[in-house]
Amino acid sequence: MTGSGGASVMVSGGAGYIGSHAVKGLLGRGYNVLTYDSLAEGHRQAVLGGDFFQGELASREQLDQAMSTFRPKIVMHFAAHCYVGESVEDPGKYYRNNVSNTLNLLEACRDNGVEGVIFSSTAAVFGNPVSLPIEETHPQAPINPYGETKLIGERMLRDFETAYGLKHTVLRYFNAAGADPEGQLGEDHDPETHLLPLVLKTALGKRDSVQVFGTDYDTRDGSCLRDYVHVTDLAEAHIMALQRLLDGGASDSFNLGNSLGTSVLEVIQTAERITGKKIKHQLCDRRPGDPAVLVADSAKMEKSLGWKPKYQDIEAILTTAWDWMAAHPDGYNKR
Ligand SMILES: NC(=O)c1ccc[n+]([C@@H]2O[C@H](COP(=O)([O-])OP(=O)(O)OC[C@H]3O[C@@H](n4cnc5c(N)ncnc54)[C@H](O)[C@@H]3O)[C@@H](O)[C@H]2O)c1
Repeated sequence: MTGSGGASVMVSGGAGYIGSHAVKGLLGRGYNVLTYDSLAEGHRQAVLGGDFFQGELASREQLDQAMSTFRPKIVMHFAAHCYVGESVEDPGKYYRNNVSNTLNLLEACRDNGVEGVIFSSTAAVFGNPVSLPIEETHPQAPINPYGETKLIGERMLRDFETAYGLKHTVLRYFNAAGADPEGQLGEDHDPETHLLPLVLKTALGKRDSVQVFGTDYDTRDGSCLRDYVHVTDLAEAHIMALQRLLDGGASDSFNLGNSLGTSVLEVIQTAERITGKKIKHQLCDRRPGDPAVLVADSAKMEKSLGWKPKYQDIEAILTTAWDWMAAHPDGYNKR
């Protein structure tokens, strides 16, 4: 399965939203890529090249089969369940996939000669911020099972390094957003829970309206502020983290965001400008567990690896998302 060129990288969840952008970036740099995905939530069409193995993280047999043939040096681990609300209603689903299945993957890495893992973590491991912007040293106190399961993932990685020398890089993204600027990839989740695609689907007429949860926060317009980071900038951060691990860099954790807060109402107003459509929205009560502001401090990533997001303002991010969605109003499957 391996070809010539760069190191071999297995990407779990490479058919999903962020993973597929990372696969594209890796292929562009000449890495040998194996996407490992069950397709439970991802899309085969989103995997633009390299090798593909339709497999479940729950199956140690499938993992061993994929790894013993492909022999990855590094694994990028994107595969997970990632809906906060669902994790509260059905925590077992999250502990099973994000904890047990991640443990399966790590044991398979240990036994198949993998040198390092790059792990998709999240701002949700921090819980309610006690200081802003959120640095890597911020206390980790998740307030929902999704955040808990991702924090356990981080801790398993730490313990696997101590016990077996498996290295890791933890990348904690804030709100991933946008789409491949070349128009090949975009965000297609079902159900969709992320604000930008919901707003754009409303602009397309695929939804009646979008809900704004909370209008009385202590922010400039009363709605929540979030840090939107472009999915291609995240893919680039993964490639930098990969190269650093291959060059012998030590295990570490980095927060990834634009270090800018954009409010829910600002997203809607910007989307109205870009799409030229009025976006109907309902002003609703606050949702329990939503902090007023979540903004990353990404200075560590910038200083250590020279990462600088190319898409810094919400207009640029929304434009790429809109270009993809307008061309794929029904997502990947129903063009
Ligand atoms: N989207 C965000 O804003 C965001 C923010 C912070 C962190 N993250 C993390 O980034 C990662 C990727 O997020 P995404 O939005 O691309 O998710 P996604 O749902 O689009 O992609 C996840 C992919 O993993 C696959 N998968 C899930 N469980 C699997 C299993 N047991 N075996 C094999 N494949 C499996 C799915 O089929 C899917 O293709 C997740 O780990 C998520 O927690 C996402």
